[in-house]
Amino acid sequence: MTPQFNRGPRILLGPGPAMTSPRVMRALTTPTVGHLDPDLLKLYAEEQELLRYAFQTKNEWTFALSGTGTSGMESALTNLIEPGDNVLVAIHGYFGERIAEIAARQGGNVDRITRPLGEIFTVEEIETALKAKAYKLFAIVHAETSTGAEQLHIPQIAEAAHRHGALILLDTVTSLGGIPLKIDEWNIDAAYSASQKNLCSPSGLAPITFGPRAKEAVEKRTKPVNSFYLDLKLYSAYWNGAHAYHHTASATMHYALAEALRELHEETLELRFARYRKVAEALWSGLTNIEVAPFIPLNYRLPSLTTARVPQGVDPHKVRARLLEEYNIEIAGGFGSLKDLVWRIGLMGQSNSLENVKILLDAFDKILNTK
Ligand SMILES: Cc1ncc(COP(=O)(O)O)c(C=O)c1O
Repeated sequence: MTPQFNRGPRILLGPGPAMTSPRVMRALTTPTVGHLDPDLLKLYAEEQELLRYAFQTKNEWTFALSGTGTSGMESALTNLIEPGDNVLVAIHGYFGERIAEIAARQGGNVDRITRPLGEIFTVEEIETALKAKAYKLFAIVHAETSTGAEQLHIPQIAEAAHRHGALILLDTVTSLGGIPLKIDEWNIDAAYSASQKNLCSPSGLAPITFGPRAKEAVEKRTKPVNSFYLDLKLYSAYWNGAHAYHHTASATMHYALAEALRELHEETLELRFARYRKVAEALWSGLTNIEVAPFIPLNYRLPSLTTARVPQGVDPHKVRARLLEEYNIEIAGGFGSLKDLVWRIGLMGQSNSLENVKILLDAFDKILNTK
């Protein structure tokens, strides 16, 4: 069935995709060009610079892969892991588990350390786990979209990984463009993200960045990367250097992401983070006023994704259905054991506005008072 557009655009306040700006929507209508067109190659050069700004890196291998965030995850893992490599994954939510699963499918010898949903790791816990074996790779999610928790102490964790001889891979799907992230200053070897969250573009591209140590690990491989499509050396030959044909990338998606990145650059990272925080604070205090308490403690609560406790006696699924049907607002339910306990409310991209917070709080208030 075709979605009904006559009710106006959905107010997307879930964990992504976020709403896109009029500028990005206009960019999507730019006539397409071929995947080797000189204009597209020029756009890639600009997009690379803008992605380097967003990631705060000078890494040569910084691209936007064709595919969603999972393709970034899969690409990072398939490029870095050879069968039999020891891999440690720190799991504090659903997406950490996905990393572990993909790492195992790549033939990695995977060990997991876990925290209950809603908690994060201390540096000491990670350091203790890193001591157990010689790991080639350590992976962790920066912003767990399944719980709304920001894993703190990333620079110290990166330092511990390097001290124990491991590379560090960071999932930045919900952190890039939403909270401070400094790939070079924090010594992160590899990171990937997605276009549809804080970057404010539609889904379909996965920004990725590989630093010198990660690149060297790829160059030293004894076997070719398992996936032709996600092979970063081939990407590099397409984006940089000879621009060799690799696949028929969608110019349309790159127009949109480049425009969204220009908007980020014009606003600046600092001002965007401050704006996100201010809008999130309005949501948190409004929720508290209607007795819907945030689930994650303030010191590691993500501004872009809030998990809110469902009040006693309220059916969370009915509330979500009413928000969608009566108010045209999308929010998400909880994950796993949090399924009936929390809602997940995203304030990313164009969705992040005081106006949307007010619309949501008013709708919540009305629904909760007419149980
Ligand atoms: C932290 C995290 N990692 C990875 C992914 C996978 O991204 P995608 O759904 O774009 O494939 C998501 C998606 O929400 C995510 O939140």
